[in-house]
Amino acid sequence: MAHIVSTRPLIDGGLSGVRGEHTLTVCDPPDGSTRSVDELIALADGADVLLSVLADPITEALFEARPELQLVSQYAVGVDNIDLEAAEAHDVAVTHTPGVLTDATADLTWALLLAVARHVPAADRYVRDGRFERWETTLLMGTELSRKTLGIVGMGRIGTAVARRALGFGMEVVYHNRTRANPTVERQVSARHVGLGELLETSDVVSLHCPHNEDSHHLLDAAAFAQMKASALLVNTARGPVVDEEALVDALAAGEIAGAGLDVFEEEPDVHPGLLDQDRVVLAPHLGSATTDTRMRMAQMCVASITAFLEGDERVPHRLV
Ligand code: DGY
Repeated sequence: MAHIVSTRPLIDGGLSGVRGEHTLTVCDPPDGSTRSVDELIALADGADVLLSVLADPITEALFEARPELQLVSQYAVGVDNIDLEAAEAHDVAVTHTPGVLTDATADLTWALLLAVARHVPAADRYVRDGRFERWETTLLMGTELSRKTLGIVGMGRIGTAVARRALGFGMEVVYHNRTRANPTVERQVSARHVGLGELLETSDVVSLHCPHNEDSHHLLDAAAFAQMKASALLVNTARGPVVDEEALVDALAAGEIAGAGLDVFEEEPDVHPGLLDQDRVVLAPHLGSATTDTRMRMAQMCVASITAFLEGDERVPHRLV
């Protein structure tokens, strides 16, 4: 019998598949706040399995303090909050939830892009504030996406799903990826592989879909913004630290780029104050996977990985370490 600790409540019924012989403790931070390393260590007391979310700092200190921990099951595809090397060194397995949140995240990317391109939040405020008095010839003029170029940085599952949606909008797609995508995928989504410099210089929209790691940290910095078109829009539904937020604020203020749709931030849940008063920035609180269907599938995937691990299966699904 194993003890499973979930660092947060998941979607209702999401953990119903946990077998009766195992005990499950679901923690609920009173103020919903991000947990510190020490708080995580405290709540992992006696845990064989920790079900974590992307805001949990899963560090070497946790593995050292809780040697009984055998598995970290991450309720997300991204694992940049987990020190994978330390997990391996301490013989702790790690699983995650790839694949099931692809469409939800691609949809949110497009929601943010359309919201920025057509001033949707500002238009909503305009009507609610009672300012809609007559049809105007030049009110809240937006950017048309048809026939424009979408530059995708990171052509994995989510990047490809975003590119597929671009076909319906009549956009040309270029992408940058460390390794070139399979030619069949390129053909299916009509995407052309280019260097990052060309992508930044030619794209009307730059959309980020790469993981955050040493190589991608601040991939979009002041020099990158200087390369982009002044009319370009940036969308980030990947990870906040892929963008140098300070440089983004400066680039927006200087008119080096025209706008941004951001679901992720460098120091979540904090948002750079310089982003809050920019007209052409649309912000969301990391909602990429936030649909009922997707969050349920993510929970079921965690339960499947935990069950397989505890039953001693050789092939634990979606195991990274
Ligand atoms: C993930 O799973 O990595 C997403 O960012 C969660 O929304």
